[in-house]
Amino acid sequence: MVKRVFSGIQPTGTMHIGNYFGAIRNWVSLQNEADCIYCIVDYHAITIDVDPKELRTASQSMALDLLACGIDPERSILFVQSDVPTHTELEWIFGCVTSYGDLSRMTQFKDKSDKQEFVSAGLFTYPILQAADILIYRADGVPVGEDQVQHLELSRRIARRFNSRFGEYFPEPEPIVRKGARIMSLADPTSKMSKSAGEVHYVGVMEPETSIRKKVRSAVTDVGLEVGAAMSPGVANLFEILELACESVGDTATVAELKTEFADGKLLYSRLKDTTFERLMDVLRPIQERRAKLAASGNVVELLQAGARKATKIASATMVDVRRLVGLGTSA
Ligand code: AMP
Ligand code: TRP
Repeated sequence: MVKRVFSGIQPTGTMHIGNYFGAIRNWVSLQNEADCIYCIVDYHAITIDVDPKELRTASQSMALDLLACGIDPERSILFVQSDVPTHTELEWIFGCVTSYGDLSRMTQFKDKSDKQEFVSAGLFTYPILQAADILIYRADGVPVGEDQVQHLELSRRIARRFNSRFGEYFPEPEPIVRKGARIMSLADPTSKMSKSAGEVHYVGVMEPETSIRKKVRSAVTDVGLEVGAAMSPGVANLFEILELACESVGDTATVAELKTEFADGKLLYSRLKDTTFERLMDVLRPIQERRAKLAASGNVVELLQAGARKATKIASATMVDVRRLVGLGTSA
C-alpha cells in the first residue's frame, strides 16, 4: 500500500486521451487510497522553447482540465511547480549524486534532443528535477504512463545514492502503472500518442465532438485480416481505447461482443470505430461539461495558490532535514 502519491504533468500542449487513460484517471482513483499531491510542472516545460506569455495561461488551463477530470482540491494538493521553488534547490543537491552516465541513457532525452536545434542542459538534467519533485514530498507511489518508468528507476537510484552518502532518509518511489499506460497515435499506431507529434496524432480530452469523430473514423487499421490472425497495431489500439472507455462507464458487454466478431472475421472496422467514438464521448462529455462550468467560476488561481501553500509546508520541512544531513548552510 502506498501512503503518499505524487505525480506531474507538463502544462504546455493539450491533455490527450493517452494522458487521461494512462495517468490522470489513476490520479483520480488514487485519491481514495492515499495522500495525493499533483503538480503542473512548468519548470520542466521551459526545457524547450515556450512562449512566456502563454506559459501561465497554459498552467491555469491545465489546472482546469485536471479539476474537470476529477482531481478534488479538498482531498489532494494541486499546485504549480515553480510556486514551490525548493524543488530546484533539491534538484541541485540530487545533481551531485546523479551520474552523467545514467542521465545519458535516458531515452526520453534522446528522443527530445533529436527534435531540438538547441539542446539545453535543462533538457538533460530534467529527470533530476523529476526525482526532486517526488522526493521532496517523500512520496512512495507515482502514477504515470509507461514512458516514465525509466525516469522513475533513476529517481530510485538517486534516493539510494543520497541515502548511502548522507544517511537513510528518502523512500524509493515506485511507479504505479496500470492498464492504458501506452495509448498509440490513431494516425500512426506504431508511435505513442503525444502532444508534440502534431494535431492528427492525438485526441484531446477537451476536443470538440465533431473533430474527435473525424479522427476516430480516420484511424489507421488494416485491409482486413485472415480469421485467426493477430490484431494489427491500429485495431489493437482502438480495442484498447474502447475497453478503457467501456470500463469507465461500466459497460461490460460491448468489448466481448466486438472481440467475438473479430475472432469470427465478421467485424466491420466502421462498427469498431463508431462504437469506440460513442463510448469515448460517454467518458469525455461529462468532463468537457465540468470544464466549461469550472472555467466560468474563475477561482483557479486562488485554488492553485492554496495548493502551493500546503505543498510548501511539506517541502520546506524536507529541505531543513536535507540541509542538515548534507551539512549545508549555517543553521543547525
Ligand atoms: P506529459 O504529457 O508528457 O507531461 O505526460 C503526462 C502523463 O501522461 C505521464 O504520466 C505520461 O506517462 C502519460 N502519458 C503520456 N503519453 C501517454 C500515452 N500515449 N499513453 C499513456 N500514457 C501517456
Ligand atoms: N516527466 C513527466 C512527463 O513528461 C512529468 C513529470 C515531472 C513528473 N515531474 C514528475 C511525473 C514527477 C511524475 C512525477 O510526463
